[in-house]
Amino acid sequence: LRTDLLAAIDAAAGLDALDAVRVHALGKQGCVTVLLKTLGAMSPEERQAAGPRIHGLREAVTSAIAERKTRMEQAVLDARLAAERIDLTLPVDLPPPGNVHPVAQVMDELAEIFADLGFAVATGPEIEDDWHNFTALNIPETHPARAMHDTFYVERIGTSTAGAAQAATDDGGSAAGASERMVLRTHTSPVQIRAMLAAGGDKPVRIIAPGRTYRSDSDATHTPMFHQVEGLVIDRGITMGHLKWTLETFLKAFFERDDIVLRLRPSYFPFTEPSAEVDVGYTIQNGKRVIGGSDGWMEVLGSGMVHRKVIAAGGYDPDVWQGFAFGCGIDRLAMLKYGMDDLRAFFDGDLRWLRHYGFGA
Ligand code: PHE
Repeated sequence: LRTDLLAAIDAAAGLDALDAVRVHALGKQGCVTVLLKTLGAMSPEERQAAGPRIHGLREAVTSAIAERKTRMEQAVLDARLAAERIDLTLPVDLPPPGNVHPVAQVMDELAEIFADLGFAVATGPEIEDDWHNFTALNIPETHPARAMHDTFYVERIGTSTAGAAQAATDDGGSAAGASERMVLRTHTSPVQIRAMLAAGGDKPVRIIAPGRTYRSDSDATHTPMFHQVEGLVIDRGITMGHLKWTLETFLKAFFERDDIVLRLRPSYFPFTEPSAEVDVGYTIQNGKRVIGGSDGWMEVLGSGMVHRKVIAAGGYDPDVWQGFAFGCGIDRLAMLKYGMDDLRAFFDGDLRWLRHYGFGA
């Protein structure tokens, strides 16, 4: 019986077959169990002779089954491990890598160029309050410049202050109401005020503020969302000479040319006095305008000496501190540097367009 059982255990093809052998031998009606039961009916002498043999048989069968079971499980595990092995050396299909958008690229270039001149990068909110966007920049409620900015106004809903602000503007716009009103910033100039206030009124400021700006305007050269970079220097004894040198140095570095010629045209901004619009000279090459030389002029930025009222709104004493500021369209700069001609394409997210201008993978 022992040899038969051990052979059956050995021959069991799987866990189910092995369990059948176990039931056949050790189950309630199993042949080994039945043998064990016969011990009770034996005489003491017979039992002494048969007992150890039958118990030995049971132990041998039990441990043979356990051992066989372990080996089967191990085999199953080995098979799974072999089947599920991952070959890390196989080449993988990766999605194409992302690329820096031309606008982001230009922002990075600006930050780098101005960092070399000692400018830090400052930021402000895109949803700005009326005071920072207009009033503090010497654009009072009734100023015509407000109409020129094609402002997007933001309605506040669901807050208790909204009711108060609304009531204030409804009855003709008190000062409190105007400062509560929110707009999508129409330029990066409000960051001038934020940077001055953050500096505390007693130390020089030297920042650029790149970011998104918004005006209700859309054609081949205007998008409702566009990008500007603001520049601001506040210090003692600042003159227009500093402004011109800084702009010249910046534009030479940005366009990577030494033959950059600037032209400062008298202009008007409420927040600078005097103000100057800055043109950069270009030449025509293969029918395209190329920056450098002075066959023609292209307007690239607005600038001027920071108005006394703006210096005061920023918490500085205008009798002690002077400054210059400039504001420049980033999308425009990118178009000029990389030769793109339709501003709207910047925001279409068309990979073919990006690739065409060398920004794709
Ligand atoms: N904020 C002005 C604009 O958006 C540009 C500007 C900035 C002009 C700083 C002068 C000084 O047109």
